[in-house]
Amino acid sequence: MTRHPKQVLVVGRGGREHALAWCLAQSVGASGTAPTVWAYPGSDGMADVAARWTVEDETQVFDAARAAGMDLVVIGPEQMLADDWADRFRAAGVPAWGAGAESVRLETSKQFAKDFMLRHGIPTGRAVLARTADAVRQAVTALPVVLKFDGLAAGKGVAICQSEAEVEAFLEAVFVEGRFGEGPVLVEEYLEGPEVSVMVAVSDGAYCCFPPARDYKRRNDGDDGPNTGGMGAVASRQLLDDAVWRTIEETVIQPTLRGLVEDGLPYRGFLYFGLMLTARGPMMLEYNCRFGDPEAQAILPLVEGDVAGFLADAAAGQLQPDRIAFADGWSVSVVQAAGAYPLGGSVGDKITGLDAVREAQVFHAGTRLGEDGCYETDGGRVLAVSARGATRAEALERVYAGVEQVRFAGAHWRRDIGRLHFDAAMRKGGADD
Ligand code: AMP
Ligand code: GLY
Repeated sequence: MTRHPKQVLVVGRGGREHALAWCLAQSVGASGTAPTVWAYPGSDGMADVAARWTVEDETQVFDAARAAGMDLVVIGPEQMLADDWADRFRAAGVPAWGAGAESVRLETSKQFAKDFMLRHGIPTGRAVLARTADAVRQAVTALPVVLKFDGLAAGKGVAICQSEAEVEAFLEAVFVEGRFGEGPVLVEEYLEGPEVSVMVAVSDGAYCCFPPARDYKRRNDGDDGPNTGGMGAVASRQLLDDAVWRTIEETVIQPTLRGLVEDGLPYRGFLYFGLMLTARGPMMLEYNCRFGDPEAQAILPLVEGDVAGFLADAAAGQLQPDRIAFADGWSVSVVQAAGAYPLGGSVGDKITGLDAVREAQVFHAGTRLGEDGCYETDGGRVLAVSARGATRAEALERVYAGVEQVRFAGAHWRRDIGRLHFDAAMRKGGADD
């Protein structure tokens, strides 16, 4: 059966959710009509594509979605997936796109994910789980080493330690300050190479890969400064050559899907493969059970076709890859963040120039409408500008022309998104345009 959802609810309020809602709102299926897209809680900035949906009693959101006649719910943020929102919508009779909490342990527990990879022969770095600071010290046999707090930490629970002093600083944050809460630490072998993220729509063992992306996690140009949730991303099928792409599918993606079925882990949702292209071949760093942010803002502009219908079918266990298609070119997304990000955000600074952006799309994250009806800042990552091009150079020209139009006090962005990591050494893992 081919589904044509009429009312789609996007759960979340960030840049990823704005991009998802934007993409869903353009889904024109064979019926010729796009669905009405709602957002919960949504944001002012998403209003161009998704009206805000409200419920009086938040604990009733699942039943209220059914009563409102939502044909499909797409859940963006990891916290809601970890809190089992997808299964709770399903239990209320609403078709939901997102894995249930049991399977989301692939993201919420580094140890669970590592055991899963080892059990199913998926290439990944060696690792030891340590429950005390002393156990971590003993497990560190070489430097650099990667220390990962075993829980959800908004991308901030991972430290790449070059020295003993850096190991000690992370141990202090985890075991003395309790910065991420309670939990052990995975001590992992340091892997080298270009990184790539692959988002895959997964439905009961069937799958459809979206074009790969590379995100830029450090705050500053040249991959310098602190880790962030992501300062931008570049996406294109051409990011990887065919041989590497095949190896990833055969050695990582397919064994993962077989593993989910074998382990009895139901999965209908996006699955994010974070990979390192090492000299030993592609190796898994992490799974996330959702679309990446800002990968969504780069990848989704390349998606064409009836995305809402595709996801509704996949949510019902009938994934049909030919309901969507992917553009051949390149897409780049550049995040404009508050000056204080990632340590803090900005509130109430006027944002100008949004209407002057041409040949690019603005996805709102930390913004709100001020009393004067103009957008102002309201967060750390404020917005992302995304643009497509037939070549990487064309996408870059358009995206940075867009970025130049948008201004707010203290705005910070990287100038090397989609540029860094495209030198000769990096091309070992993939193709350039
Ligand atoms: P994770 O949350 O596990 O993806 O880690 C966040 C980031 O830390 C990754 O995107 C990589 O940049 C880096 N990272 C994670 N694991 C390793 C590793 N074993 N070797 C080198 N870098 C890593
Ligand atoms: N950009 C990395 C993530 O979404 O986890």
